[in-house]
Amino acid sequence: MSANKKPNAGPQPGGARHFDAPAHTRGQSIFLDDIPLVHGTLFGAAFGSPIAHGHIRQLHLDEAVQCPGVVRIFTHKDVSGENQIGGIVPDEPLFAETHVHYCGMPVAFVVATSDAAARHAVSKIKADIDPLPVTTDPREAQARGELIVPPRTFRLGDTAAAWQHCIHIIEGRTETNGQEHLYIETQGAYALPQENNAIRVYSSTQAPTATQRAVGKITGLAMHAIDVEVTRLGGGFGGKEDQANGWAALCALACLHLGTPVKYALPRTDDIVMTGKRHPYSSDFKLGLDAEGKILAYEVSFYQNAGAAADLSPAVLERTLFHCTNSYYIPNVKATAYSCRTHLPPNTAFRGFGGPQGMFVIEAAIAKAAETLGMPATRIQKANLLRSGDEFPYGQKAVSEAHACWQKAEQLYGIDVLEQQVEDFNAKHRLTKKGIAFMPICFGISFTKTLLNQARALVHVYTDGSVSLSTGAVEMGQGVNSKMIQVAATVFSIDAALVRIQATSTQRIANTSPSAASATADLNGKAVEMACHAILDRLRPVAAAELNANPALRSSQATVDPASIQIRNGLVYNDGEPTILHWKQLIMAAYVRRVSLSEHSHYATPQIHFDYTKEKGHPFAYHVYGTAIVTATLDCLRGRYSIDAVKIVHDAGASMNLTIDRGQIEGGIVQGIGWMTMEEVVYDEKGRLRSNTLSTYKVPDIYSAPAEIAVDFLHTDRNNLAVFRSKAVGEPPLMYGIGAWFALRNAIRAFNPAARLPFDAPLTPEKALMGLYQKQPSHVAG
Ligand code: MTE
Ligand code: HPA
Ligand code: MOS
Repeated sequence: MSANKKPNAGPQPGGARHFDAPAHTRGQSIFLDDIPLVHGTLFGAAFGSPIAHGHIRQLHLDEAVQCPGVVRIFTHKDVSGENQIGGIVPDEPLFAETHVHYCGMPVAFVVATSDAAARHAVSKIKADIDPLPVTTDPREAQARGELIVPPRTFRLGDTAAAWQHCIHIIEGRTETNGQEHLYIETQGAYALPQENNAIRVYSSTQAPTATQRAVGKITGLAMHAIDVEVTRLGGGFGGKEDQANGWAALCALACLHLGTPVKYALPRTDDIVMTGKRHPYSSDFKLGLDAEGKILAYEVSFYQNAGAAADLSPAVLERTLFHCTNSYYIPNVKATAYSCRTHLPPNTAFRGFGGPQGMFVIEAAIAKAAETLGMPATRIQKANLLRSGDEFPYGQKAVSEAHACWQKAEQLYGIDVLEQQVEDFNAKHRLTKKGIAFMPICFGISFTKTLLNQARALVHVYTDGSVSLSTGAVEMGQGVNSKMIQVAATVFSIDAALVRIQATSTQRIANTSPSAASATADLNGKAVEMACHAILDRLRPVAAAELNANPALRSSQATVDPASIQIRNGLVYNDGEPTILHWKQLIMAAYVRRVSLSEHSHYATPQIHFDYTKEKGHPFAYHVYGTAIVTATLDCLRGRYSIDAVKIVHDAGASMNLTIDRGQIEGGIVQGIGWMTMEEVVYDEKGRLRSNTLSTYKVPDIYSAPAEIAVDFLHTDRNNLAVFRSKAVGEPPLMYGIGAWFALRNAIRAFNPAARLPFDAPLTPEKALMGLYQKQPSHVAG
């Protein structure tokens, strides 16, 4: 990879690479299932409700209890604490009691001497459940008043007054479907009893503290008696921000009752069926423009399909509102969002966290406006990009890179040539068409819940000079551990090999926020930076004292002032001059002088606030911008297509690790394209998941990934609140994938200008084919 040689690369401190790569490629990295089992470990398996809504009349466990290897079967009656795992709203029992609310809802937990025995016994459990009416549609739920939380509305200006100034008013409806996380490592936990009624839980969780809290609630143990430890996840993507907790609580409950270690690593099908997904949304929009394509007003209503319990839905809902105008400035906005309770597994965080769902709607509105006005969508997009100082509907003022990214993309990738190529191709080919679309993005960095924007780090320097680093960050492939090592190695100016990152543990770092919101490196990295600086501040006087006591160590004979001490590449410098005092000697000297070599630091993002009574404030530390140009080729006979290229200018601030950031961008795009084009979550009218295997649920593979992903980093040295000014990168790139939907739409329209394709994602080949041969405008307005 030539990324590091790019002229626009920022400084790459502390040996920028992905430190997990060698062990991953050798198969040596430890995931939950690789933890050596303690002798006597038992295995769990959950019995999930076979129907989506009903009243439990009777549970028949007799036959299952008789099965070989079964030790015990747990139900809600065995919960020693409180049968509740709801994170934001206490509306989610761990075990169903009298009612079931979705297919797969845990009703019983079998513990046996082997995985196979536990699963076999689960198949022998019978339940008499009287069925009740099932709702899977969010609009239907809203109409019946089935809301998780009261609706919320963001307002800017006055839309009612603005319509009269609009020359064009466009209305429509959009649908975006859910998305299965399909992390490579399924959900799971392993609980081990400790002395004095304590417990250790290994969990594949993005949120060790949330897991610890849920285990505490279910078992009745105090949090100090529960250690949750995480080495790394084989992917989370938001699916383990809230939904890892239940499995850990089941294992912990059984472990405490039986006094033996209990493990449950979910089989793939259980995982797919029992866990929630990205929220499907149904939305209505109304967009008003002047004759030149300037957007004057936007009204939008979002119907979020929350599933059967709140989970993270209220937080996801608000991020939809925060991102409802994407990268555009619109002076008059009214956006309302409903979180609708249905009988699906509770839907949850997924990369972008409601933002992508909001952005799809405004892009659809612009695409439809472009047709009405008879101008290219790009002209409307470009004419309305945010400028610095523009106000978001929630009151924060933009510090915008939107134009910089767009213009650089146009120039760098030669937009005139690209558009001409598409036109020429389409003129020459009757049954194959190409489409091109721009996708600008703008994503706010910080948890929208202000209190979560805090983190802690614990740094120990040992007497041999090696450094131990603990933070609340969870490594899930995104490379946060590598970035943490870089921060420590850079602040101390020592070789990265001297720094080791420890497994994330609630005993070492308390009260952690989830590793989520793309903010993990910023929050934990800032805490690491502070801790290392605090230690460094104590080392300087030690170095000065050592040099003063030992003139042979230095060249100048003047008295050494601690303020003139620096460490560079493991060597002590005095006033810019190298001495012969090394890091290791310095550390030993500090120890001998009884100076503390450990520090625990706390970081809380400054400047952010939000007033929920007014829906105004400054919720984000900063925004990440970018522009993607997506091109696609469509086989107009079969509806098959390929995404040819995604060419991006991405605002990375001053990236501290281009290798990791490029990986995040490539992965995010492919995941976004999957959501927009092929991943189709299907529940039937009874709330049963039909797309419950990889033969019925298509995720992008290497053949469906774009043939070309070009990434150019917009290097900005502006002061921001990112760690080392290296902007967060985890989620934003997923939203470039939305461009694929619109590129395909343009290809369809190149073949069939009469097509009025509904704004319905994913745009599967079947839907593409319908659009290609559509004669009548569809009744779902498109
Ligand atoms: N990348 C990998 N490889 N695996 C993951 O699970 N999760 C994504 C993103 N990138 C994820 C990933 C999501 S949903 C988020 S919020 C961020 O990483 C979280 O990590 P960060 O805060 O360190 O960016
Ligand atoms: N992003 C991700 N996870 C969250 C957020 C957010 O903004 N708020 C609460 N959990
Ligand atoms: Mo990411 S959806 O915030 O875990």
